[in-house]
Amino acid sequence: MSNPNNIYPIFDQMMSRADKEELLNQRGIMIWFTGLSGSGKSTVAIALERELHQRGLLCRILDGDNIRSGINNNLGFSATDRVENIRRIAEIGKLFVDTGIITIAAFISPNNDLRKMASDIIGKDDFKEVYISTPLEECEKRDVKGLYAKARKGEIKNFTGISAPFEAPQNPAISLDTSKLSLKESVDQLLDMILPLIKL
Ligand code: ADX
Repeated sequence: MSNPNNIYPIFDQMMSRADKEELLNQRGIMIWFTGLSGSGKSTVAIALERELHQRGLLCRILDGDNIRSGINNNLGFSATDRVENIRRIAEIGKLFVDTGIITIAAFISPNNDLRKMASDIIGKDDFKEVYISTPLEECEKRDVKGLYAKARKGEIKNFTGISAPFEAPQNPAISLDTSKLSLKESVDQLLDMILPLIKL
């Protein structure tokens, strides 16, 4: 058999996703959080993970600042680097989903094309988009990391919401505005959506 890349994947010989899901007694899924910096993505992701974990469900959070200090530490915030950032995260996320794990990704992922790419890589049936829709004014008021102040002074280039665009998702599975909802209310809405989906 000729193969121009000399690459021979062996996925078909390994234990299957169904085997892993049976072992874990849960279905793998990607819960993809999108929203501005400071919108509450990480806070909600962490609280959600805790609730799922307490129910005996195995989760993995993939988070912007963590991934960008590890595997993606060679990437910046140009449009091209953001594509590569999300491409790698989606490929990594797919490995977790294929292991039967409830994978929670928290990345700005600022436009529809980026999120479509992630959904295409992971598979749209396994991909649930969650829009953390907290308004820019609120994110900027919180300015937990002091980045909005720096961006306003021109000290950070291409800062999402200030000097780089954010495109709201058109058809998210769920939208949560953390300036209106308590953390518990956000997590409860997510649990209502997720628990039926991950039942075997
Ligand atoms: S994404 O746009 O490529 O999806 P990602 O979620 O990985 O972004 O990283 C966002 C985090 O990087 C922000 O929460 C913030 O802490 C930090 N950051 C540093 N520079 C920027 C910038 N120019 N735009 C947005 N976030 C930035």
